[in-house]
This record gives sequence, structure tokens and C-alpha cells, in this order.
Amino acid sequence: MKATVAYYSKTGHSRKIARGIGDALGLPIVDIAKNQVLEPVDSLFIVSGIYAGKAAPEMMNFVNQLDERTVGKVYLITSSLIGKTFQNDVRDVLTEKGITVDPEEFTCRGGFLFFGMSHPNKNEIQGSVEYTAKMMAAQAASGQNVQSAA
Ligand SMILES: Cc1cc2nc3c(=O)[nH]c(=O)nc-3n(C[C@H](O)[C@H](O)[C@H](O)COP(=O)(O)O)c2cc1C
Repeated sequence: MKATVAYYSKTGHSRKIARGIGDALGLPIVDIAKNQVLEPVDSLFIVSGIYAGKAAPEMMNFVNQLDERTVGKVYLITSSLIGKTFQNDVRDVLTEKGITVDPEEFTCRGGFLFFGMSHPNKNEIQGSVEYTAKMMAAQAASGQNVQSAA
């Protein structure tokens, strides 16, 4: 089973989370801002923040060009000032395309300016690693892989 972590980061939090997951679980990491090509994957973990209540335009471009034949299932990992904000616009585009997005979204705090500066912290990074490992194990057990990546 193949899994990849793709992130978009304006202020470094999502990069920190993506690297934490990639290093802990030995997964490839794609920086969406660098326009890296995505190989076919069974599990795609999309990590980003929320900007003025929305996903970044770069993230929307990335998800718009994903193909349901080469992406098995998507999982969202989201940091925001509030900490309980969701990448709903990303979820909606993927769902419309016929790509399954797991209903459980991992969320944590990500400080902005002087607020919540210490976030995402060690526990939150560890939480995102545990979420990813749990989701990968569940998908592997379900045998829900894309044909092209199997
Ligand atoms: C320009 C900008 C706008 C933001 N708007 C929101 C927002 O509307 N709601 C919120 O909860 N957090 C908001 N935040 C906080 C970010 O979502 C949070 O810091 C996140 O961890 C940033 O991730 P990144 O460092 O990977 O870009 C904003 C941050 C920036 C830089």
C-alpha cells in the first residue's frame, strides 16, 4: 500500500507537521507550492492551514487536478488559529470528483501572529503521526486500494 503526505504551508506549520509524519512513518512528502507531480497513491494525507476561512488557492489548484483513478482515499490534517476549523472546500471538491475523503479530519492549533505561537507543538505533531498511522492501518485492513497503485 502506497501513502504520500502532500502539504501547503504559508508560515511553516504544515511543513513541520508533514515532515513529522514523513520522518516518523517513512512516507514521501510533496510540497504543493513546488508543483511536484503526485505518483498514484492509495492514501493521500493532505496537510494545510486555513486562510481567511478558506483553503489556499494553491491547495484548491492541487486538489482540482487530482484524478480519482490514481488517488485511493484522502485524509485531511488541518491546523488553524482556532484549532477546530476544517478544510471543507477541499473536501467538497474531492467529493465532487468521486475521491473518498475520510470523515474524520485531524485538527490542531497553529498560532498566527502573537496568538498561540507555540502551536503546533510536540503533542500535536505526535497526534498527527498517530492519526496517520491509524488511518493507514485501517485502510490496509479494508483492502481499499486504487488499482494503479496496487
Ligand atoms: C493570512 C492568514 C490567514 C489566516 N486566517 C485564518 C482563519 O481565517 N481562521 C483560522 O482559524 N486561522 C487562520 N490563520 C491561521 C492559520 O490557519 C494557522 O496559523 C495555520 O497553522 C497556518 O499553517 P501554515 O503555517 O502551514 O501556513 C491564518 C493565517 C494566515 C497566515
